[in-house]
Amino acid sequence: MLPLTDTFQRKFYYLRLSITDVCNFRCTYCLPDGYQHNKDREAFLSVDEIARVAQAFGQLGTTKIRLTGGEPSMRRDFSDIIAAIHQQPEIKQIAMTTNGYRLAKEAAHWRAAGLSAVNVSLDSLDARQFHQITGQNKFTEVMAGIDASLEAGFPVVKINVVLMKHLTQQLPEFLAWIKHRPLQLRFIELMETGEGNDYFLQHHLSGEHLRRQLLEEGWQLVARLPDAGPAQIFSHPDYQGQIGLIMPYDKDFCDSCNRLRVSAIGQLHLCLFGEQGIDLRDLLHSDSQQQLLQARIQSSLTQKKQTHFLHQGMTGMARNLSYIGG
Ligand code: 5AD
Ligand code: SF4
Repeated sequence: MLPLTDTFQRKFYYLRLSITDVCNFRCTYCLPDGYQHNKDREAFLSVDEIARVAQAFGQLGTTKIRLTGGEPSMRRDFSDIIAAIHQQPEIKQIAMTTNGYRLAKEAAHWRAAGLSAVNVSLDSLDARQFHQITGQNKFTEVMAGIDASLEAGFPVVKINVVLMKHLTQQLPEFLAWIKHRPLQLRFIELMETGEGNDYFLQHHLSGEHLRRQLLEEGWQLVARLPDAGPAQIFSHPDYQGQIGLIMPYDKDFCDSCNRLRVSAIGQLHLCLFGEQGIDLRDLLHSDSQQQLLQARIQSSLTQKKQTHFLHQGMTGMARNLSYIGG
């Protein structure tokens, strides 16, 4: 039965695991008013619960886990979480998506704990605009964090840039930045979320335009690896870095889906824009529940739909992406 396979013969090697909803940034497309603390919220998964999730998915054929949030490094036990997942022999890659605010200090420690890749969000190369978008005046720190990640020897350092209208002017600057740096610069088309309809209409820029521009300037599409994410990757002989383009509105986007998601409170989400999660938490109390846990995950997959419904303007449960980590 390995790996996990759905009714459309898509195989799932990759789990995105959110470990907190909390974030200290206020990105305009995500948490414009900042994270709202809620005393009544359910506690986030403990290190032991996270280890059990990793074990179950590992035994079901998952080889890669990405830690997301919120901002995953808001957790004080973040290094312990990496180390606990690193103990699972089936999980060959542990990645994280971060806003980068702790990277300069921690990149080397996280690498030592077993982290294998980082994705850093960076929506502008201009410090003032960065501040405007994220609500945090931390451009210099984040850039230092990116350098620290390269120095710490992470084999893959990717930069996430949400594609928005203002970016058209900044493209040359971004390209110059990766000319001599082995970074993968990933432009992600803005997705509409429950809270962001006006924002979406105002800022959404299709990736298609950028794709054409890249091809015109000599960038070439790199063949997709079987376990790669949904990004179209481009390379250019004059550049050390690569460009990735993620276009969730592209008609075939969902065909290559190879990921599942678990939220910070232990709900399995079959699609980022899916409906309600499937609760796993009652089966995370002890190691003796592993068989039941794996059986529930496996049987849930039959419910996975062929595609999302973004085109119909249905954004599913996702109020904003800090809830489920993008
Ligand atoms: N559309 C596209 N990407 C988003 N992210 C968050 N919200 C959105 C959205 N509405 C992505 C950004 C960020 C990562 C944490 O999640 O790429 O870097
Ligand atoms: Fe925080 Fe990431 Fe959302 Fe920005 S996009 S507010 S860094 S969770």
